[in-house]
Amino acid sequence: GSPKYRFLRQQGLHPSRHLPDTLIIGVKKSGTRALLEFIRLHPDVRAAGCEVHFFDRHYQRGLRWYRHHMPYTIEGQITMEKTPSYFVTKEVPQRVHQMNAATKLLIVVRDPVTRAISDYTQAASKKSDMKRFEDLAFVNGSFAVVDTAWGPVKIGVYSRYLEKWLKYFPLSQLLFISGERLIMDPAYEIGRVQDFLGLKRVVTEKHFYFNATKGFPCLFKSEARSTPHCLGKTKGRNHPHIEEAAIERLREFYRPFNNKFYQMTGINFAWP
Ligand code: A3P
Repeated sequence: GSPKYRFLRQQGLHPSRHLPDTLIIGVKKSGTRALLEFIRLHPDVRAAGCEVHFFDRHYQRGLRWYRHHMPYTIEGQITMEKTPSYFVTKEVPQRVHQMNAATKLLIVVRDPVTRAISDYTQAASKKSDMKRFEDLAFVNGSFAVVDTAWGPVKIGVYSRYLEKWLKYFPLSQLLFISGERLIMDPAYEIGRVQDFLGLKRVVTEKHFYFNATKGFPCLFKSEARSTPHCLGKTKGRNHPHIEEAAIERLREFYRPFNNKFYQMTGINFAWP
């Protein structure tokens, strides 16, 4: 092209698509959308708009296909993608490692009991004749045996999936974000994320306000909208009432797995 075009290109100012440097790999229903929307306020972060599902559903299409789903970036900008099912899909850690062993991984985690209820609530919203949560989470009518084969319960055993990731990536390449803290103090968690990614702390408490009606932090403005707004209606749903005995039994079930997860990550999330 022209000398001017060549100059821009040499300066790294020619926008092009790149494979992601950073992935939000999960965990489903822990606040992954909030994390993505918050971190992409940063001018040096560009993210794919929807979940690409490359490493779990479309792997055979190849890296060229994947790259074409990435946004345009200029030099110095981070390319990011979020697909929460990556965390729990067996083949994914090895595949991500093969693409780029230096990939940074962001993982939002939340009390597995509320995560399970959130997961169930989402499924029930798409299905009119859904059984009660209590009838799905346990084997037989009583609350004695937890049904560990049921997705919403199974996904909450974080330690089991983390083990697979740690076969391919050092703990230093993983950042765990507390889903609870992302709601109570979004600026704090986004501060940690920016530090981890080597970014200037541009996203701060000034970007957030708490919307009492929604009951969640919302944004004054974003790349897409210049007026205050919250995440969509599918984020922050009302959960059905669940029998206390069922909750208690699930807490007991998760306790050893949670402790193992705290040990593996070196973080005590203090879930009840
Ligand atoms: P609920 O809808 O069950 O409350 P994901 O984006 O991974 O699907 O997670 C959805 C969850 O994000 C919501 O679950 C909600 O609790 C949580 N969340 C965190 N920050 C939020 C925010 N600012 N607005 C809405 N939901 C938020």
